[in-house]
Amino acid sequence: MTRSPARRRASIADVAQHAGVSVGTVSNVLNRPGIVAAATQERVQAAIAALSFVPNGSARQLRSGSVTTVGAIVLDLTNPFFTDVARGLEDRLAQDDWTLMVASSEGRRDRESRFLRLFEEHGVRGVAVVPSADDAAPLVALHERGVGVVVLDRRSPVPGLSSVAVDDVAGATLATRHLLAHGHERIAFINGPHTIRQCADRYDGVVAAITAAGLDPAQVLVEITTRLDAAGGEQAVHTALAAQPRPTAVFCVNDLVALGALRTLRTEGLAVPEQVAVVGYDDVSFASELFTPLTSVRQPTHDLGSTAADMLITGGAPRQVVFQPELVVRASSGGEA
Ligand code: RIB
Repeated sequence: MTRSPARRRASIADVAQHAGVSVGTVSNVLNRPGIVAAATQERVQAAIAALSFVPNGSARQLRSGSVTTVGAIVLDLTNPFFTDVARGLEDRLAQDDWTLMVASSEGRRDRESRFLRLFEEHGVRGVAVVPSADDAAPLVALHERGVGVVVLDRRSPVPGLSSVAVDDVAGATLATRHLLAHGHERIAFINGPHTIRQCADRYDGVVAAITAAGLDPAQVLVEITTRLDAAGGEQAVHTALAAQPRPTAVFCVNDLVALGALRTLRTEGLAVPEQVAVVGYDDVSFASELFTPLTSVRQPTHDLGSTAADMLITGGAPRQVVFQPELVVRASSGGEA
């Protein structure tokens, strides 16, 4: 089907010409109607209706310096954790009639840099960024150019930037302690790349729990690094099952990876949790709805987003907020079904 040529969007100049007035008069009708004669207002409003004119809000905001849009860069919008965080951002921003633009970096610096540039060109008031690496220099430079910056989902690597995070070392410690308490002495940890701070911190939490139990991580732990999605979990479980001695528990860096792991365990005919216990991370909405409900480390996702948005709206001195995670025990690790 051939697409009809896109109709040129009517401009403020088209409205002025149609109504027989100046562009300034049209602008006054839109922004300061009280100073325009009623008859003139009617002529301009008739022209606006006839041309289906829609004022360009971002241009007006840019001219008046009152841009109230925030840009958010997350790792992967197809991960429900990040859509929940984005919803928290959106809900808080909407309270002040601010708007949100969201993009996925896929953990790649080039994509992150590109979206940071595009957001700045759009004139956003601030950005909330889940960094794809530890180097904060681009974010500090953006901050110094007057754009608000909040580091999201990890502590800021530098003191000069605000951040909102969850204690991922504590979260992974909770999960690992739970598995050790259920008698598991051989644990596979399916993780993402340590260049992503959340993944590095969760690894540290796993090691801390094993060490605190008086055990040797080299004996207990098998770490497998994979993609941070269900396909990554499906593949990584095959590697975990091939490890000797075979792990009796699989801790996954997030619930998407755990979903993939459960899928493979089912196709391999392994009972969960009887033969292999599974724990995820995030406690996204599907975790409790699975055939074998998933034990998971709950993160306050909506609070992460709304707190970041509040920091961008209110401004002020940089501050770091760190939420505490909670372990939600379900059937996949031996809890109540
Ligand atoms: O993207 C990897 C993970 O980091 C997400 O699932 C969430 O846990 C975030 O903290």
